[in-house]
Amino acid sequence: MKNILIISSSLRAGSNSERIALEVKKGASEGPNNVLFVSLKDQKINFCRGCLKCQKKGECIIADDMKALTEQMLNADTIVFSTPIYYYEMSGLLKTFLDRCNPLYIQDYRFREVYLLTASAENTDTVYQNAQNGIQGFVDCFPKARFMGVFSGGGLTNPNEIKNHEELLTRAYEFGKKMK
Ligand SMILES: Cc1cc2nc3c(=O)[nH]c(=O)nc-3n(C[C@H](O)[C@H](O)[C@H](O)COP(=O)(O)O)c2cc1C
Repeated sequence: MKNILIISSSLRAGSNSERIALEVKKGASEGPNNVLFVSLKDQKINFCRGCLKCQKKGECIIADDMKALTEQMLNADTIVFSTPIYYYEMSGLLKTFLDRCNPLYIQDYRFREVYLLTASAENTDTVYQNAQNGIQGFVDCFPKARFMGVFSGGGLTNPNEIKNHEELLTRAYEFGKKMK
């Protein structure tokens, strides 16, 4: 059994990437996994100030919702990040979240597998490349973890547009089912 943590980072009502994440959750929940879904839109997350006090204390000096979120990260075996593509990159909210994960760097983190889910207007294999590179950069800083793969939903411009893309929803579900 794995603890799978899915982190959604779109602020939009009718978010396509969040719907992809929820389908992945459905698939991943089919097995004996313990799957937790978190949306960052309900959380208070300030910017990292770069003070590096976390590297001595093991926790951030900023009092906000990152304390509970980093605990959830620590307890996860698998972490799945979900993001809309903004200017060929991950969302600013996800990047802000990743920067605030710096206290984990000196902790006995448990996660070994990291996945990325994206939604974008453009439907190409290159539109999510920079976001994937960013997640790879994060993973590279946690040497016990590996980047496992990306699911990209292209051709999605408007809120809730994914509802008209049954094949994407099915593929997302299957992607989650493989997270054993
Ligand atoms: C600020 C902004 C920048 C965007 N940049 C891109 C982009 O570079 N490439 C692209 O294909 N779509 C881009 N989009 C479209 C979104 O990726 C698309 O609408 C996606 O479905 C949003 O996901 P969400 O519904 O989960 O928020 C952009 C949208 C916004 C609001």
